[in-house]
Amino acid sequence: MSTKKSYKKVSIVMGSQSDFKTMKFCKKVLKILKIKHEINIVSAHRTPERMYQFARKAEKNNVAVIIAGAGGSAHLPGMIAALTNLPVIGVPIESKKLKGLDSLLSIVQMPKGIPVGTVAIGKDGAINAALFAASIISLTDKKIKKKLNLWRTKQTRSVKNKPN
Ligand code: RP5
Repeated sequence: MSTKKSYKKVSIVMGSQSDFKTMKFCKKVLKILKIKHEINIVSAHRTPERMYQFARKAEKNNVAVIIAGAGGSAHLPGMIAALTNLPVIGVPIESKKLKGLDSLLSIVQMPKGIPVGTVAIGKDGAINAALFAASIISLTDKKIKKKLNLWRTKQTRSVKNKPN
């Protein structure tokens, strides 16, 4: 059941301002689903202290799920996951040189012991990360469950039987 106390937020983080052009789609979906969220720039290599504090305090700060977007040698989701037991979903950002394959492999290939849920590269991944977070939250929140069901129903209805 949804109570004020159990209603936690999703925290979106990204390694750089440049990731926002992808991660804004994640924010957009959370907004549509009316899921409480926050969004911050947290870099594992440029602001390691900020990352440490963020990950360590996330649970206390009422965060239910962390979505971390990172590109290149994308260690941010894995580093955060190492510092908290909260579910972490990594969004591989499309990098200029390797088109995000570097980001994808860095995030998806976590060695055993510290899992990071990994979605597709770029915009699709950012959208799916928000929907995945919604599924996790809907386990304990009936309102969000309803909104997610509605989203899926609308999506199903939008698919025509025949092509033009
Ligand atoms: C990573 O480096 C960020 O996640 C970003 O995708 C990538 C490039 O960052 P900028 O050089 O654009 O700031 O940390």
